[in-house]
Amino acid sequence: MRVAVVTEALGPDARPDQDDAMVQAEAVVAALDALGHAHCSMSFAGDIHALVDEIRRQRIDVVFNLVESVDGRGEVVDLVPAALECAGVPCTGSGAAAMRLAAGKLGTKARLRACSLPTPDWSTSDVTLGEPTGRWVVKSVWEHGSLGLEADCVVEAEDAAQLSREIDVRRTRLGGSAFAERYVHGREFNLGMLASGSGVEHLPVAEISFGGDDSGEPWIVGYRAKWHAGSVEDLATPRCFGLRPEDAPLVTTMRALAEATWREFGLAGYARVDLRVDERGAPWIIDVNTNPCLSPDAGFAAALAEAGIPFSSAIERILGAALYCA
Ligand SMILES: Nc1ncnc2c1ncn2[C@@H]1O[C@H](COP(=O)(O)OP(=O)(O)O)[C@@H](O)[C@H]1O
Ligand SMILES: [Mg+2]
Repeated sequence: MRVAVVTEALGPDARPDQDDAMVQAEAVVAALDALGHAHCSMSFAGDIHALVDEIRRQRIDVVFNLVESVDGRGEVVDLVPAALECAGVPCTGSGAAAMRLAAGKLGTKARLRACSLPTPDWSTSDVTLGEPTGRWVVKSVWEHGSLGLEADCVVEAEDAAQLSREIDVRRTRLGGSAFAERYVHGREFNLGMLASGSGVEHLPVAEISFGGDDSGEPWIVGYRAKWHAGSVEDLATPRCFGLRPEDAPLVTTMRALAEATWREFGLAGYARVDLRVDERGAPWIIDVNTNPCLSPDAGFAAALAEAGIPFSSAIERILGAALYCA
């Protein structure tokens, strides 16, 4: 089998979150070597015809898609799977429709609500669901990896006009489109899922520990926490496994929500759903990640290790899902 590992074409001023695709590619290539699959690497700069021509020329059987943005823009992340679907080339991870849906957080939230899956209220510059007062987190619509997001994105609003201003002043740093989501001050969980036959296998649930600091300061896994290893923010948000026995009912509920999200969004291959739990113990979906990061130090690889699934076996399963479950 011949695999093309496709990443975003990066310039010298790529951000750390974009550079991470190369770390993922290295890990995937090492797994492909271990599995004995022939492979080559391709970078995608936005020209779908050039990509499809190269794939045909190199007689590629399946694409391992690690493209998370095009020219640094998450809004067009579905370009690669859409082009490959048109060309009839199998591609790992979620398909174009699911990628497009999950790429935008407003569309994601609207779909979650439409499916009666819990996601916090939200507000754009035009419309607010629920009361405008209280604590909100201003987030990017299209960008991921906490781009532009730090604790100062958690704001207290007195009315709709102020909330709208809080969104406006952060718009540029958040990649050009922003909205506010009701801030949930509580435990944060990552639920990784791997395709298994026609369903999913749940990986061990990871919790981000905020160290029990309850001074009221916002608990946020921001850009520095994710991409500046060793920073104060990184060290303050360690990931841990091994939940307490009394968390078992919560885990069951969260897994049901994550699996329902997988089904409703038509996710494929591998995915991660992130939740926050409020002071009443109710879980809220805050993020749906198609094709989550596969870097060795990121959450998905950690959850595989915790489950005792070798990284290369997971890569083989992701390839299998692309080839046989499309
Ligand atoms: N509604 C929320 N309440 C509390 N914290 C949130 C909320 N939304 C996001 N966060 C924090 O911000 C981080 C990044 O937000 P997220 O929506 O996952 O965006 P990204 O796609 O950039 O990962 C989350 O991991 C969490 O720590
Ligand atoms: Mg997230």
